[in-house]
Parts: sequence; C-alpha cells; structure tokens
Amino acid sequence: MATFAPPPGTADIFPAEARRWRTVENTAAAVFERYGYGELRTPIFEYTEVFQRGLGGETEVVQKEMYTFEDRGGRSLTLRPEGTAGVMRALSNTDVMNGVEQRVYYCGPMFRGERPAAGRRRQFHQIGVENVGRCAPLLDAECIAMLMEFLRSIGIEDAKLAINTRGVMADRGPAGRLLRDYFSAHIDSMCDDCRSRLERNVWRILDCKQEACRRIVAEAPDYVGSFSAESRAYFAEVQAALTALGVPFTVDPLLVRGLDYYVHTVFEVSHSGLGAQTAIAGGGRYELFLPGQNKPVPGVGFAAGVERLMMVRDALGLNHDESVPVPFFLVGLGGPARIANLKLADALRREGVAVALELEERSFKAQLRSANRCGAALAVVRGDAELERGVAIVKRMDNGEQTEVAEDRLFAYLSEFDRTR
Ligand code: HAM
Repeated sequence: MATFAPPPGTADIFPAEARRWRTVENTAAAVFERYGYGELRTPIFEYTEVFQRGLGGETEVVQKEMYTFEDRGGRSLTLRPEGTAGVMRALSNTDVMNGVEQRVYYCGPMFRGERPAAGRRRQFHQIGVENVGRCAPLLDAECIAMLMEFLRSIGIEDAKLAINTRGVMADRGPAGRLLRDYFSAHIDSMCDDCRSRLERNVWRILDCKQEACRRIVAEAPDYVGSFSAESRAYFAEVQAALTALGVPFTVDPLLVRGLDYYVHTVFEVSHSGLGAQTAIAGGGRYELFLPGQNKPVPGVGFAAGVERLMMVRDALGLNHDESVPVPFFLVGLGGPARIANLKLADALRREGVAVALELEERSFKAQLRSANRCGAALAVVRGDAELERGVAIVKRMDNGEQTEVAEDRLFAYLSEFDRTR
C-alpha cells in the first residue's frame, strides 16, 4: 500500500498521543491561571513585519526560517515562528502602553523552516506565557519559578535551569566591542559562520557549537562585568529572588538566546532525557516596539516545546495510556434492534455515559470482537426475538455471565452500573 507521509518536519498526532498532550496542556493552563494568567489566542499568521521588527532582522529565524507568502492583496504574511511578537501585536490594542500589566498564556503550532531532526520540527508546538507592561527583577523570578512549577506538575523534576543577563541596549555597545576585539584576534581559527557573526551579531559566536570555536569562546573576556551597575544589580536581584524561592539555577555567561528582543534576564531549561536538542523551554525579559508606538513595551515570558516535553516524559516513563475504555457496547442484530440501540446510546450519551455500538449489519461474533477491542465491560445484545419479548441480554465481557434485563429498566440498569463501577 502506498504510504502518504506528512511533509518533512511535520507529524500526525493520533488520539492516544493527543490525549497525553491534552493532559500537559491542561496542567499548564491550571498552573498559569493560579499565577493570574489568562489564555490569549492569536492568529497563526501575521503580517511579516510583526516578526521582522519584533524578532530582529538579523536573527536566524527571520533570515532563514520563516514561511512567508503573499495574501491576495499582495501583502506579505508569515506563519508564526514563535508566539511573543503576535501576542505583543495583539496587546498593542490594550492599555499595556500605560503600564497596566497583562498576563497571558498561549498554546499552539509554530513554524520554522529548520532541518528536521529528533526534537526539531518545522511545525512544532509551544506552550508559552508573556507578562507584559512592567519591568522588575521579581517579575522575572516569578515567571521562571512558574515555569519550574509547571514542569514539576507534569512530572519533570530534574530539569536544569540556566540563566544569564543580556544587560540593557546601552550595555551592548561596550560589551560587544570587548567581544569583537577578542574574537578578531582569533577569527582565523574559527568557523565560517562565526566569521560572518563577528560583524553581523558577535553575540551569536558565544553559542557556536563547533569544537574549535568553543575552545576560543571559553577564554572570552567577562563581558557582563562591563555592563552598567544598574544592569548588574538587576541580575543580582533576580538571582537573590530565585534563591529565596528555592529554585536551583546556574549562571551561564554563554547563554544569549537566538532572538534579538531580549534585555536583562535570559534563561533556558534543559533535560538529559533529550538527545541533541536539549532545550525544553527558553525565555527572558524583552523590549518590543508595538505597531505604531515609538516607545518599546517591556515584558518577560517563556515558551516550552510540547514535542520536547513529551520526549522527556517518555524518557521518564510518564506517558501512560490515558484512555478510558467505554463501559458498554451495544450489539444489534437486525434493523429494528440497531435503531433501538441507537436510541439507547443517544439517551446514555446525553447523560454523560460513553457508549459504543455497531450500526451496520454484522455477525454476532464480529460485534463481540468489536466489544472486546474497545474494552467494554458489558455487551448489550438485542435481536428481533429480544425486541419482541421487550428485553435485552446483558453479557459481562470478563466472565461471559448473562442477565436478561427488561427494556424499560435497561437505561436505569446501565446508568447504575456506570455510576457504581
Ligand atoms: P525559543 O527558544 O526559540 O523561544 O523556543 C522555545 C522552545 O520551543 C524551545 O526551547 C524548544 O523547546 C521549542 N522549539 C523551538 N524550535 C523548535 C523546533 N524547530 N522544533 C521543536 N521544538 C522547538 C521562543 O520562541 C520565544 N518566543 C520564547 C519567549 C517567550 N521569550 C519570551 N517570551
């Protein structure tokens, strides 16, 4: 048989897996709502400039990975590669500009034209939050603590949190020069990507994965030491708050993150249960220009990759089958019995009871096989003879025991069985 695979880097999520995703998504919603966050659903595509301006034209995502197309009017649209820029676009219609805090979370597909690999997809899914409108170290610490609490709530307790500071925009000039001077002296032994990063975005050299570059990066000067006293004090307060909250972390000066909008705190959470793609979540404080505004709006947030959370939960043995078998299977022999069964199923389903039944002409044996396959506890069997006598045969699937139940008692009998099971 020909197989039709979905496009590279995408996947079909079948019911058993989707059920496990929903557990994680529902837990996220419950945790975030306790911290005062409400759900925001933004469009899956936006005007391209929302991302170009929001993420920064020099970022890898904007330069190489966006799915961009024209709409009918010739305007450029892009499938969202991440959630923050669209959330900020949506919030530009609220009073965040006046310093009113907005706490929102989101959950859904994102699109990046990356090379597919384990844990790296072109359509992937994020659960994210944004706390927008204010800027304070304790907000950053609260946001990070909430991420760790969410991970704990879905059974991921041994994730590693790394944090760093990117300072404010004014710190970038002096610190960037310090790094550029240092890397210029070693650039001959560095990779081609780092050579072009030297001029375009020297910070990205810090997270180059090439062995030769990493050795040079390891000896790079302490650029954080050149940040302003205010920026360093901000970062110290974030660390003190995390310590006060009992959230373990390490400071990683090489953590810069791939998007340009970050200032002050950045963080990433990794887990050994993943292969090469170790980041299960990442985020930080940022400043973004909202459409039509000439003053940036501050925010702090993160996004976790759902596929990666599921991989970690797999590695930890947490992905159990969460399906609940239907209690009843209605076996119908002959047209009138099938109609009677359809009516009974309808009545039970309205009462909140799950029922499966056969709606086509099939043999008794085949129908019992179906009852077995869906894990039903009872099979309710009716044919013309039973209809005539006004009864149904109720058969226990575990031991084959049969009881005859009068038609007018059948609904009550089954509801009672479901309640006391
Ligand atoms: P990001 O680090 O680009 O940040 O993505 C966040 C998470 O999404 C990653 O840690 C990873 O788990 C997952 N992820 C990213 N790309 C892929 C992919 N191709 N396949 C599978 N999973 C992936 C952001 O997107 C920021 N918007 C986070 C943020 C929110 N910062 C502030 N607020």
